[in-house]
Order: sequence, then structure tokens, then C-alpha cells
Amino acid sequence: MADINILDAQAKLSKKGFLDIDLDPTLDLFAEIEKLKKEKNAIILAHYYQEPDIQDVADFIGDSLGLAQKAESTDADMIVFAGVHFMAETAKIINPSKKVVLPDLNAGCSLSDSAPPEKFRAFKEKHPDHIVITYINCSAGMKALSDIICTSSNAQAIVESLPKDQKIIFAPDKNLGAYINKKTERNMVLWNGACMVHEIFSLEKITKLKIRHPKAKFIAHPECEEAVLNLADYIGSTTGLLKYTQQDSAMEYIVATETGILHQMQKSSPQKTFIPAPPSNQCACNECPYMKLNTLEKLYLCMKYEQPEITMDEELRLAARKPIDRMLEISAKLGL
Ligand code: 13P
Ligand code: SF4
Repeated sequence: MADINILDAQAKLSKKGFLDIDLDPTLDLFAEIEKLKKEKNAIILAHYYQEPDIQDVADFIGDSLGLAQKAESTDADMIVFAGVHFMAETAKIINPSKKVVLPDLNAGCSLSDSAPPEKFRAFKEKHPDHIVITYINCSAGMKALSDIICTSSNAQAIVESLPKDQKIIFAPDKNLGAYINKKTERNMVLWNGACMVHEIFSLEKITKLKIRHPKAKFIAHPECEEAVLNLADYIGSTTGLLKYTQQDSAMEYIVATETGILHQMQKSSPQKTFIPAPPSNQCACNECPYMKLNTLEKLYLCMKYEQPEITMDEELRLAARKPIDRMLEISAKLGL
């Protein structure tokens, strides 16, 4: 690679949202990334949906809650977020003195996009006596309109921490909201949002797969639709699903979430078989197109040039921080 200066890197970045710089194909990216970690006192936080190479080079791999907790407690100078934009933004909100970089700014989230803050504000005004619990998969603007943030691993506990007669709006994921309504016997008002990856699973194909693999356990993320969840032996966050496969005695699992999680499942239980739940068409739609925008090359470049960097307006950051702090406090109290 011809070395370029920071200003040239910035110019390239502004057009594409990531650093599009040719790399010498013989470069050992794993070794270079390790060097950069030390040089810059950087930590790589990766979600389970990242490609295997990124998971293998990460310092911490987790679900949305684990990643937020790690981002809060780290003493690194730079947080390299191998995930999607709302996750990196959350890290910046809770730990603003750190430089937070994301390999590709285009790594968004269909669920987050399904809840534009200005539309949600109008919806909220129609339910004035309601508390707003918002899934962490949303923008800082949505967080600023919320009372408590939750993730898939603490949503039930957070709802249950409120009095039974408390009126609640749950946004933006209607599937997770409906699942929590059922588990907690509540009637939260649901925003009509969903994740494109978790809505694509085919009930018919899963049913056939279960017949072909009668001993396989079917495990699912709560962002899946109710009909899919009804078939599940276990429902949980990505960390929950991984732990279940580590502790359970079955030898085969059909997994209804983004396929990236299979890497850690296979690594920690090499003797077991993991089958990704099939989508309803022929595409690889059970892969998150946003998560998969990050590559090892982009990760290396963003560490080297320290961009794309997450920055935000301080007033918005402070407003978005309050409901995240409430989530972290409740989670810490409950040992989650
Ligand atoms: P968790 O990380 O809470 O399992 O959620 C999955 C997800 O969709 C992240 O975008
Ligand atoms: Fe968003 Fe769904 Fe991708 Fe998660 S899997 S980042 S919820 S689009």
C-alpha cells in the first residue's frame, strides 16, 4: 500500500463512508491489527454477527448489552467498533472521552431505520401517560425520546422492573415487543418496526428442517416473528443462544438468527452441528447486509487512520445517555 496522509484519507472517506484505499495483498492484516492495538491502546469490540476473521481478531465479542457494558468500562483510548452504527454511537454516548471508530459508516440497521425520531415523537404525543422503553437498535435521536433503553437480553427484566399497571410504549421492534408482552402479561403499545433479517425466516422450511432433523433443538432470537418463536425450544439474545448451545446436551441445533453467531457456537462446541434456519427465498437474507459491510481490510484501515470517527452533538448525547444509564443501572442491580 502506498502510505497516504490523514487529509487524503479524510477526502476519500467523505465520499464513501469508509476508507477505500488499496492494500498490499501480502500484508498480514492479523499481525498489523495486533500491532495497531498496542501502538494506539485500542480495543476491538465485535458483535457476534461480524464475519469470522473480525471475531477472531476482536478483544471482546458480545451481544448488544455486553458490548455496551464493555464500552462503558474500557480504559482503552480508542474503541474500534466492529458492529453497526447504533452500537458505535451508543459507545460514544456512554464513554465520550474515547475516540470511537467504525469501519464503515454505512453499517446501519433496518430496525433502527424503521423508527425515525420525528415520526416517533408524534406517536409518543398520542400516548402522554406512557413510559417509553426503546430497544437499543435505534438512533441517538430515538434514545433521546426514551425513558429506558433495553436489549434483547434484559428487555423482560426491564419491563418487569416497572409496576404492572404502568402504561408503556415499546419501540421499535414489534416482534420483541409482542414476545415481551406475552412473557410479562402486559399490553405495551408497540411501534410497528422490525428487523429485515429476523423477519425473513420461513416457517414452512423450518418445519421441514425440523422433520428432517428430529433430534435438533430449534433456537431463535426474539426479533423473529411470533409464528417462528412458537416453534422454539429456546428464545434468547445472541449471548443467550450461544450459552444455551454450550450448556445444553443436544448435538444438533437449528439457529434462527443472523448466521455470524454460528462461528462462536462451532468454535466452543466443535462436536455439535449447527444449521442456520432457512430464509423464505434463495438469497443469503439471514445475513445482515449492514453487519457484513465491515471487513478485516476496513477494520485495519479505520484503526490505522482513526476514522470514520463517531462524533455527536453534546446536547443530543446527554439526552440519549439518560435512558441508557437507567438500563445499565437496572441491569447491574439484577446482575445481568
Ligand atoms: P443482541 O445483540 O441483543 O442479541 O441483538 C441482536 C441484533 O440484532 C443486533 O443488531
Ligand atoms: Fe439491525 Fe437486524 Fe442487522 Fe441486527 S440483524 S443490525 S437488527 S438489521
